[in-house]
Amino acid sequence: RPNIIRVDADQPDKAKLEPAAEALRAGELVAMPTETVYGLGANALDEDAVAKIFAAKERPPTNPLIVHVAAIDDVHAIVAEWPNEAQLLAKTFWPGPLTLVLPKKNTVPDTVTAGLDTVGVRMPAHPVARELIRLAGVPVAAPSANRYTEVSPTRAEHVVQSLGEAVDVVVDGGPTQVGVESTVLSLVGGRAEILRPGMVTGEQIAVVVPDVVYASDAPVDEQLSRPSPGLARKHYSPNAQLRVVDDVDTLLALSGADEGAAWLVLEAPAAQPRGPVVIMGREPSAYAEKLYAVLRDLDRQGVDTIVVERPPEGDAWRAIHDRLTRAAQ
Ligand code: TXA
Ligand code: MG
Repeated sequence: RPNIIRVDADQPDKAKLEPAAEALRAGELVAMPTETVYGLGANALDEDAVAKIFAAKERPPTNPLIVHVAAIDDVHAIVAEWPNEAQLLAKTFWPGPLTLVLPKKNTVPDTVTAGLDTVGVRMPAHPVARELIRLAGVPVAAPSANRYTEVSPTRAEHVVQSLGEAVDVVVDGGPTQVGVESTVLSLVGGRAEILRPGMVTGEQIAVVVPDVVYASDAPVDEQLSRPSPGLARKHYSPNAQLRVVDDVDTLLALSGADEGAAWLVLEAPAAQPRGPVVIMGREPSAYAEKLYAVLRDLDRQGVDTIVVERPPEGDAWRAIHDRLTRAAQ
């Protein structure tokens, strides 16, 4: 079993974090809480350590990792270009759930970037992640700390369930607050393109960089010519079959519709189904915060179908729609 280190989420004890920092410097795998999801961290400049991440997750080597830094100025060891837009975005959204993709420096091993000449970098807001990266003194490459295609972990126990002894140290800083993975924004070639929607929204980014677009809104032939690595359709999946529906009440009125199913609804349904009901509410940040933990809980209860009431439209819901769509594949 991994060495589990429990720390306070807001004011982590440096003495307790030091062994985790030492493990990172020694090339070991350390799972840590970020404000989005738990990450499976390794020294980003140590090729052998990074290779262990891919092995532990059974992650295809074509899927690049995000490099995490403790301060804005630390990006200069990682990226070859840092345009004015990047500085403005970092000043506005860092520390926080926004990853910026930029041309990489040669010091970043090709393993980290899956052979691409660009690298994703972000400064996480979680006090535990920031303190751990600062103490380690190295940039930390970290994908979500789950096996490939599983739902990302939002609690330390999810990491242990997913990875077990494939991880050396798990830093437990309690449940994560944002709940879904960071927004990934490419600034390569003078364009601003959202490759993965997150809780930092296109509308929020547009205040700083007005011509930002979602890659998924681009014409399909352009999407095909451009790589969106790691955005495999089947991703973030629970074991249960997930179905997104418009009208829960009509479905519930059909006899047998609720056989073996769980229900993820925005508000209490008119009829009481036999299976478990989770009321998610109509507030996107609260919905995102609990989504993955709810999916994992329902999986553990052994339901075979999760019926999800389609959330409202709008930019604030975009990341949630994206993850539900992928989970339903
Ligand atoms: O919130 C998060 O981003 C979490 C926490 C741990 O920071 N990390 C995370 O990592 O979600 P991961 O590996 O599960 O997802 C990384 C995403 C993938 O979609 C990948 O394709 C994209 O970032 N990415 C990384 N480097 C890239 C690059 N050079 N070009 C394009 N996309 C990149
Ligand atoms: Mg992931």
